[in-house]
Amino acid sequence: MVDLELTFEKNLSIGQKIEPRDWMPENYRKQLIRLISQHAHSEIVGMLPEGNWITRAPSLRRKIALLAKVQDEAGHGLYLYCAAETLGISREEMFDQLHTKKAKYSSIFNYPTLTWADIGMIGWLVDGAAIINQTTMAKCSYGPYSRGLLRICKEENFHKIQGMEIVGILCSGTNEQKEMAQESLNRWWWPSLMMFGPHDTNSPNSSDLMKWKIKIKSNDELRQRFVDMTVEQAKVFGLTIPDPELKFNTETRSWETGEINWDEFYSVINGNGLCNNERISARRSAYEDNSWVRDAATSYKIKKNKKAEAA
Ligand code: 3HC
Repeated sequence: MVDLELTFEKNLSIGQKIEPRDWMPENYRKQLIRLISQHAHSEIVGMLPEGNWITRAPSLRRKIALLAKVQDEAGHGLYLYCAAETLGISREEMFDQLHTKKAKYSSIFNYPTLTWADIGMIGWLVDGAAIINQTTMAKCSYGPYSRGLLRICKEENFHKIQGMEIVGILCSGTNEQKEMAQESLNRWWWPSLMMFGPHDTNSPNSSDLMKWKIKIKSNDELRQRFVDMTVEQAKVFGLTIPDPELKFNTETRSWETGEINWDEFYSVINGNGLCNNERISARRSAYEDNSWVRDAATSYKIKKNKKAEAA
C-alpha cells in the first residue's frame, strides 16, 4: 500500500498522467467522479437553452451552425461520461444523480435564452469562460479527462468564434440590434463570472483538487483571466460591461470588478434558479421517452453476443 501511494505521488510530481488501472487514493477517485460527471451534465443540460433557438435562427447558415454546435455538446457529454465511467461509476448512476438533483451542473444553464442575441452571448461569454477553464484543466493529472478536454477545447473554440460573429454583426447593425446585444450582455455578464465558482477562500474542494493537480489554476485566477480578456473584447464591440465598479488597476495591470451576487449564485446551484425545474424535467423526459432506444440497443447487443458465443 505504501509503495502504491509512493508511486502515485511520484507520478503526480513528475507530471505523469494517472490512468484508470493505476492505484489512486479513494478521495482522488471520488473528487474526479464528482467533477467529471458534473461537467458531463453541464454539457448535455447546456444543449437545452441553445436548442431552444434552432427553429428560430435568423438564417439557414445560422441554423446549420447552431445545430452543429448543439450536437457537439452532446458529443462532449459522451466523452465525459465515458471518462467518468473509467473510475467505476455507471452511466445509469450518473443520470440518476442528475435526475434526482443529487448532482450539480453549471449554474449558467439555469438562465433563459430570451432573444437571438443570447445565442451570441452564450458563444462569446459561456464558451469563452469554458475554454479558459478547460484549456487549463486539460493539463490535469487524470489521463482520460485530460485527453477528452483537449478535443473538447478545440471544438469550443469554434463555438466561441460563432458567438462572437453573432455579437459582432448585431453590434454593427441597426440601433435596435445593438440594443438587443447590450440588453443580453447585461443579463449574461454576472452569471458568466459565476461559472468559475466561489472565491478561492470559499471553495471547499479546491485544496484537494490542487494538491492532486486536478485543478491547475484557482477559481479566482481563471475568473480574472476571463475578465481581462472579455473587457477588452467588449470595447471592440462597443458594448458596456454592466458593472459601475469596474476599474483598471494600473499596478496589477488587470480589471477589477464589483462583487458578484453570491446569494444569487448559491440560490441557483441549490435548485432555485429561473430554469432549474424546467431543465431537469426536460432531461428526465428525454431519458424516459427514449428508453426504447436503450432497450433496442441492449437486446441487439445481447443477441449479437449470444451469436458470437455459439459460433
Ligand atoms: N455551477 C454549479 N455549481 C458550482 C459552480 C457553478 N458555476 N461553481 C461551483 N459549484 C459548486 C461545486 O460543484 C461545489 O459543489 P459540490 O461540492 O456539491 O460538488 C460547490 O459549488 C463549491 O465549489 P468549489 O469551488 O469547491 O467546486 P470545484 O472546486 O469543483 O470548482 C468548478 C467548481 C470551477 C466549476 C470546477 O468544478 C470545474 O472546473 N469543473 C470542470 C469544468 C466544468 O464543469 N465546466 C462546466 C462549464 S459549462 C460547459 O463546459 C459547457 C460548454 O458547452 C460551454
